[in-house]
Amino acid sequence: MDIKFLKSKKILLSLAVLGGFVACGISYFILNYHYNWIPSQLVELARKPELVKKPPAKACSECHADIFSSWEKSRHSKAWVSEFYVEDSENHSKEKCLPCHIPQTVNPGTKPDPRLDNRDDGVYCVSCHFKDGAMRGPYDLFSPSHPTREVGEFRKSVFCGSCHEKTFKEWETTDRARSCQSCHMPRQMGRLTQKFPLSFMHQKRQVADHSFPHGAIEPNDILMEFEFQDKRATLSLTNLKVPHNFPTADNGNPRLYAYLSFLDTKGEEVSSEKEIIAPQKETALPWQKAVVYNYRIASQASKVRVSLQYKPAWSKEKTEVIVREFTRGEAG
Ligand code: HEC
Ligand code: HEC
Ligand code: HEC
Ligand code: HEC
Ligand code: HEC
Repeated sequence: MDIKFLKSKKILLSLAVLGGFVACGISYFILNYHYNWIPSQLVELARKPELVKKPPAKACSECHADIFSSWEKSRHSKAWVSEFYVEDSENHSKEKCLPCHIPQTVNPGTKPDPRLDNRDDGVYCVSCHFKDGAMRGPYDLFSPSHPTREVGEFRKSVFCGSCHEKTFKEWETTDRARSCQSCHMPRQMGRLTQKFPLSFMHQKRQVADHSFPHGAIEPNDILMEFEFQDKRATLSLTNLKVPHNFPTADNGNPRLYAYLSFLDTKGEEVSSEKEIIAPQKETALPWQKAVVYNYRIASQASKVRVSLQYKPAWSKEKTEVIVREFTRGEAG
């Protein structure tokens, strides 16, 4: 074939590829930094009207795949179907339970109204994000698929306080150094959407963990002190780090158990004690205030083993979170 012809074909191809890159670059620039330049007719074409009709959470997973799979693992997705909830609400018959377990729209700081549709989704995407025709969120950004609106409260504790009323009140009495989101929705760099290849047109941002992890207790979070007298002993527990009661609840029944085992010098148990530390018994550990427990013990008790075991509201299983031993006559 003609060498000249081949050469010009190569040039054309290179130009096309280059043109492609430039077009992508310009689109990226406009989409992320100057989305107000996009003509509204074009925006209308890209919109998916079904998204602003309060669809189930599954509809959002087409693009927000990662956030959806985290939310699916969260307790929010179980708020209506949870076996403990079904039991306590007498098979869904108690009306006063509906606002927080199947909320319509979350308005930061006020208890939501209940909804009728998509009940099995519990506390779902639309409850927290959709209002007045737009998906509200922490960012000022452009989504071709649905309108968005930046709302500052998304990163503030008051947003969570709409339903976590008691916990929010407890948190307000602390130093408020960290928001609920900073511990229960930790952020990481990533993409908001995973729809290939279009998601790459959007810049990376901080993405918050929508599995809403309920928090892990570290040994240093609770200060444990113990004092032996002749026939008496005192245990003192101080919640140093968790900026709400430990445990905390609005209606659930999470519990912390303290098991004490007193031993003689041969290591035989001479007596044992148990404490139930629970919001429903008003015995949860407040932030940075020591709680003291007194015991009568035998004078041959020379050692104590204290085991703190935690049971979340949605499980019957306990896990040991802290264990310590104290010996008579030794500073603990
Ligand atoms: C003001 C909002 C609100 C109302 C109203 C409400 N809850 Fe809850 N509920 C919560 C929040 C927040 C939690 C998660 C924290 C906790 O464990 O309390 C929760 C958790 C629970 C849990 C433990 C989690 C689980 O699924 O096992 C149960 C059970 C429960 N609620 C039952 C009820 C029942 C029954 C009612 C009605 C009598 C009710 N709730 C009304 C906000 C509410
Ligand atoms: C067809 C794709 C698609 C679907 C389906 C979709 N979104 Fe989006 N959404 C996007 C894109 C694209 C962005 C912007 C991403 C970016 O800039 O990184 C976005 C952004 C968002 C934001 C951020 C808003 C802000 O201002 O911070 C929220 C919240 C959101 N979507 C919620 C939802 C919810 C809830 C659903 C389901 C009802 C949903 N989206 C369904 C594509 C989609
Ligand atoms: C619309 C009401 C509502 C809002 C708003 C809300 N939650 Fe919840 N949350 C609940 C309910 C109801 C449950 C209990 C679900 C269940 O287990 O049945 C819950 C459970 C949780 C749990 C799990 C607790 C456990 O025992 O493991 C965490 C953590 C949590 N929420 C954190 C947050 C944070 C952080 C925010 C704010 C960004 C927030 N929630 C906003 C209603 C709400
Ligand atoms: C209990 C309320 C709640 C539920 C339910 C919820 N979100 Fe969010 N979402 C938030 C909060 C609060 C933020 C801001 C977190 C931050 O930045 O600290 C957020 C942030 C986002 C963002 C912006 C990126 C980011 O992570 O900051 C997107 C997109 C989003 N959510 C989509 C969804 C989708 C899709 C679902 C359902 C699968 C969903 N959300 C369920 C409260 C919720
Ligand atoms: C400094 C980090 C931190 C902050 C801030 C924080 N929490 Fe927690 N939260 C924890 C830890 C750790 C746990 C596990 C220990 C426990 O059970 O209290 C926990 C447990 C919980 C639980 C599960 C119930 C329980 O006690 O077992 C809920 C619900 C909760 N937090 C809600 C909130 C809300 C709502 C806010 C904001 C008002 C908030 N948290 C602020 C660290 C934090």
